[in-house]
Amino acid sequence: MKIRNINISYFKNLNDANEYAFELFRRELDTLKEKNFCLATGSTPVDLYKLFVKSFNEKQTTWKNITSFNLDEYIGLEPNNKFSFRYFMDSNLFNYIDIQKENINFLSGTSNPEQEIVRYEKEMDKAGPFDITLLGVGKNGHIAFNEPGTPRESKTHIIDLTDSTIKANEIYFDNPNDMPRQGITMGIDSIISRSKKIILIAFGESKREALEALISNKVNMNYPITYLLEHNDVEVITDIKL
Ligand code: PGA
Repeated sequence: MKIRNINISYFKNLNDANEYAFELFRRELDTLKEKNFCLATGSTPVDLYKLFVKSFNEKQTTWKNITSFNLDEYIGLEPNNKFSFRYFMDSNLFNYIDIQKENINFLSGTSNPEQEIVRYEKEMDKAGPFDITLLGVGKNGHIAFNEPGTPRESKTHIIDLTDSTIKANEIYFDNPNDMPRQGITMGIDSIISRSKKIILIAFGESKREALEALISNKVNMNYPITYLLEHNDVEVITDIKL
C-alpha cells in the first residue's frame, strides 16, 4: 500500500518483517562508508537488533563507520540504570557489535535539561543527516516520546508522558511506580527534517489505531505518526492487515 511517499509493507510473519527491515539497513552497512543511523528502543526492534548482531558475528557486518543517535531517554535515569534506554541499547545491540563508543550519541536523562537539549541538537547538526531513522510507534500514535499534541516544529524537548505510554512501558519496570513520568526526546522536526529515509516498524494489533490514522492521509497532531505524511521517503513495516 502506498500513501503519498509512505510505502506500507505487510508481513504475516514477524521474521520476514524483521528480515525486510534488516536488509534496508544492511545495504547501508555494506557500503562501508560513514553513515548516520537514528535508532529506537522498545520491544519492537529487539528482534531486528538480534539480526544485526547475528550478521556481525557470522558475516562480519561492521558498524565501525556508523554514528548512531537514539531518539529518547527517560528523565532521571542514569545510563547504567537497567531500565534506561541507553542500557537497553547497550544490552541489545551496542555491546555485541563493533560500533565505536565515541560514535554513540544519547540523550542524558540526568543532565541539566536546557543544556542537554542544546548539546544534542548541536551534535545532530554536526553529524549531518540521518541516512536511516528507525522508529517504533506508540499505541497512541507517538513517535519517539512525541506524545499527542506535540507540534510539527518541535525540536529536542522534555515531555510529560501520557497515561497510555506509562501503561505500555511500566510493565518493564520491577516496580511500575518507578517508571519516570517524563522523557527527553528528539522533536518532530528534529526527526523529519534530518532523516533521509525513515523505517517505522509496528507489530501487533495494539498499533492498529495509529496506523489507521496514518493511512487516513491527514496530518493530525493528535496522532504524531501522521507527521510522517510530510516526509518523502518512509517505509512502514507491519504485521497488521490494514
Ligand atoms: P514498543 O514501543 O516497541 O515497546 O511497542 C514503541 C514506542 O512506544 O515507540
